[in-house]
Amino acid sequence: MTDSNTAAADTATVDAGAGRVALVTGGIGGIGTAICRRLAQDGWRVVANHHPSEQEAAQAWRNDLAGEGLTIETIAADVSDFEDCGRMVAEIKTNQGPISALVNCAGITRDKTFKKMDEAQWRAVIDVNLNSVFNVTRQVWEGMLEAGFGRVINISSVNGQRGQFGQANYAAAKAGMHGITMTLAQEGASKGVTVNTISPGYVETAMTLAMRDDVREAIVASVPMRRMGRPEEIASAVAFLVADANGYITGANLPVNGGLFMH
Ligand code: CAA
Repeated sequence: MTDSNTAAADTATVDAGAGRVALVTGGIGGIGTAICRRLAQDGWRVVANHHPSEQEAAQAWRNDLAGEGLTIETIAADVSDFEDCGRMVAEIKTNQGPISALVNCAGITRDKTFKKMDEAQWRAVIDVNLNSVFNVTRQVWEGMLEAGFGRVINISSVNGQRGQFGQANYAAAKAGMHGITMTLAQEGASKGVTVNTISPGYVETAMTLAMRDDVREAIVASVPMRRMGRPEEIASAVAFLVADANGYITGANLPVNGGLFMH
């Protein structure tokens, strides 16, 4: 690489966001908040999506982030509803501009052993964790192709890679996310649109806190690093993948799991 190429890559890394718009679904959640904060710090104009039932929480969240000196818009939409996602994306385009980066981060758990899992628990997780990726990405995809630039990051899970006792619904959805990633990576590659998966391990959020203490502690004890991940460590991986300098990475599944699963 010549000196001038090196300099160009360095500049792109520093100037990652450059005022472009990033939408983070599930943006006010544990991992979502860290992603929004990091992208805003990197110069992106960030819009955090949340569920329509979380209006009050979103207001408080905006105020908290404003207290840190970060102006981040929030927008309500049910990511399991295609029409609602269309409305959300249209509003963002009108108010903020075209979306250059999408982080599909919204997710829920309905953990049950398979013999106890009912259809509602199966469908809820598939709708929110997997169908949402279609519902939101489909709305921004053509814009990214036409612009000749885009970044899509799907926040999956180590449990989509290895399965997990009590998570048939969640593991199926999270594995499915990477199937979409690999396909869209191929469809976007010639147009400057990269699509990647991040597969976090067990991260310190309300979702893992909701687990039974003994179950969580047993899992953490099996992590080679002997600790849970921090939301900021997932956000750091997102910042890496959206950076201009990393535009040659596409279709990848980046594990951020403390060594819990290697392949
Ligand atoms: N492997 C094999 N057997 C297991 C097992 C395991 N990992 N865990 C439990 N069992 C066995 C138990 O020993 C028990 O056996 P017996 O019936 O013979 O006594 C049987 O399975 C039932 O186990 P539980 O008593 O735990 O059943 P439960 O109904 O109370 O709990 C569960 C089921 C809620 C699914 C519980 O197993 C659990 O919490 N599992 C972990 C799920 C998990 O990891 N969730 C992650 C949430 S966070 C997240 O998803 C973020 C991310 O991306 C990582």
